[in-house]
Amino acid sequence: MSYSSQVSFTINGESRVLDVDNRTTLLDALREHLHLTGTKKGCDHGQCGACTVIIDGRRVNSCLTLAVMHEGDAITTIEGLGKPGDLHPMQAAFVKHDGFQCGYCTPGQICSSVAVLEEIKANIPSHVTADLTAATTVTEVEIRERMSGNLCRCGAYSNIVEAIVEAAGTRA
Ligand code: FES
Ligand code: FES
Repeated sequence: MSYSSQVSFTINGESRVLDVDNRTTLLDALREHLHLTGTKKGCDHGQCGACTVIIDGRRVNSCLTLAVMHEGDAITTIEGLGKPGDLHPMQAAFVKHDGFQCGYCTPGQICSSVAVLEEIKANIPSHVTADLTAATTVTEVEIRERMSGNLCRCGAYSNIVEAIVEAAGTRA
């Protein structure tokens, strides 16, 4: 009986094929097999958000999902959002507003915040959305609620919120 499988997916626009133990998390596949170490392992239990990546437009904790579950998916990691000299607007806003200290949570914060703005744009309500019939707007309260799954031990929260608000404005 085989305990490994082949999985094909697109990572940051590039097709990749991996042979992995069926129990390999997507996080370990990214870090250990593909050497994309921008995605961080904080808790490995779905509690900190450091491992957040974007899969087909939705943010996902990559420590909580198996690589073999993502056949055919399009996955974006922090490396795929932008690069030094060609930063994604959210990355640039984090730099401008000092949205980090040690930086360990930052890739997850940035992937999550990019997807948060798409969620708001798509009118997907959150727990604090008061009027479900009105268009959802980018408010500080909405951002804090939607980013609550991304913990920052350095406590850079207020600067993170400022960065996301700015990125939302410049994107419009
Ligand atoms: S490492 Fe995945 S949520 Fe903490
Ligand atoms: S910047 Fe250090 S944990 Fe967030």
